[in-house]
Amino acid sequence: MMSKKVVQIILVFMVVLFLIPLFAMPGLTDEMVDGAQLFEANCAGCHVNGGNIIRRGKNLKRRAMEKHGYTSVETIADLVTYGKGNMSAYGDRLTAPEIQAVSEYVLQQSQKNWQS
Ligand code: HEC
Repeated sequence: MMSKKVVQIILVFMVVLFLIPLFAMPGLTDEMVDGAQLFEANCAGCHVNGGNIIRRGKNLKRRAMEKHGYTSVETIADLVTYGKGNMSAYGDRLTAPEIQAVSEYVLQQSQKNWQS
């Protein structure tokens, strides 16, 4: 029969093994709040290439965004959180950091006019 000491060592070893993936997590979570990926998954259906398939004038190109007052991450994040017209709210589907990341991405892309 194994001594208590050996069992304890094995247990500690297992706990350490279990914890390793947790330390590897930050890289993973960075990936999960990648604005470009979030945009592809949640927004591109209507806003492919910064357009708008439902209301053409309300696209994400620089000129429309400036005209409609979406010139900061905060104003975009607000719209994404609460929705507007035919665009639904994402406040209960995306986390706050995700909304932040996707809004930063949209602002950056609009300033480049979606030229890749
Ligand atoms: C079901 C289609 C649909 C999806 C999906 C969608 N939107 Fe929209 N979006 C719209 C519509 C429609 C409008 C115009 C709203 C209005 O002002 O009446 C709009 C407007 C916008 C605007 C303002 C554009 C302007 O020039 O006024 C931004 C920014 C925006 N959406 C970002 C996003 C982001 C980011 C996502 C993903 C998290 C997203 N949208 C997902 C349909 C969609």
